[in-house]
Amino acid sequence: MKAVVYAKYGPPGVVAVAEVPKPEPGRREVLIRIHATTVTTADWRARSLRMPAGFGVLGRLVFGIFGPRKPILGTELAGEVEAVGDGVTRFGPGDQVVAFTGARYGCHAEYRTMAEDALIVKKPANLSFEEAASLPFGAAHALSFLRKADIQRGDQVLVLGASGNIGTAAVQLARHFGAEVTAVCSTANLELVRSLGADRVIDYTKTDFAQERDRYDIILDTTGTTTMMRCEPSLRQHGRLVAIQGSLV
Ligand SMILES: NC(=O)c1ccc[n+]([C@@H]2O[C@H](COP(=O)([O-])OP(=O)(O)OC[C@H]3O[C@@H](n4cnc5c(N)ncnc54)[C@H](OP(=O)(O)O)[C@@H]3O)[C@@H](O)[C@H]2O)c1
Repeated sequence: MKAVVYAKYGPPGVVAVAEVPKPEPGRREVLIRIHATTVTTADWRARSLRMPAGFGVLGRLVFGIFGPRKPILGTELAGEVEAVGDGVTRFGPGDQVVAFTGARYGCHAEYRTMAEDALIVKKPANLSFEEAASLPFGAAHALSFLRKADIQRGDQVLVLGASGNIGTAAVQLARHFGAEVTAVCSTANLELVRSLGADRVIDYTKTDFAQERDRYDIILDTTGTTTMMRCEPSLRQHGRLVAIQGSLV
């Protein structure tokens, strides 16, 4: 099968299309023929090994010390189950699915095998393969971090980077959990984040949220543009800063 592979860290030119063996489903695994996948910040980070300050050594330990441990990038897919291994009960050939491989990568290929109890669900019929493939990465991270922040109905939530992959999902999920959402993004994306349900929007090119009087229960930073010291005056008592994109220095 064809796959997009890389053998060393570097700029986009290090990835190339290559012929690799087609995987076969093992016991309790499904073989998915991939129709759509994405390139996300996770692919950029694993390919470039550009890590936030203080995470350099950890990056190599995670992605491979001397070179990439996983030669095929891609963390999410939408496609069709082509075959199943022994013992599979949840899926059958012909099922249209959407799946998230996360740190296991491997979606920039024509086929991917996954355990049937991995993060795979049947694709809703009203979503195209392209639409479905774009959902898991942002949504899974937004959900995980909002849960870590113990989001509650009625919370005031500020999302920095609200127009991005994780941010757009965070705005919608925070509203789903009954929070009141203030979304921070650039001028061009104000309408987008409003359309996703943000109660208020802040254009960071014109207004600094930290200079405003509003206070938040949760500040979700997907941009790495703020610090605890800067956020503290904008947090309510027991407020939480969740630094999704943070550094150690
Ligand atoms: N900790 C973890 O486990 C984890 C997991 C996944 C991802 N991440 C990291 O999280 C970060 C975000 O990921 P993503 O996929 O959502 O990235 P993305 O799609 O590129 O979104 C980033 C957004 O940040 C916005 N932005 C840039 N400067 C800003 C500023 N000063 N104030 C407010 N918004 C600003 C941009 O919006 P505008 O165009 O509107 O400026 C852009 O939409 C990445 O650095 C990624 O590596 C961390």
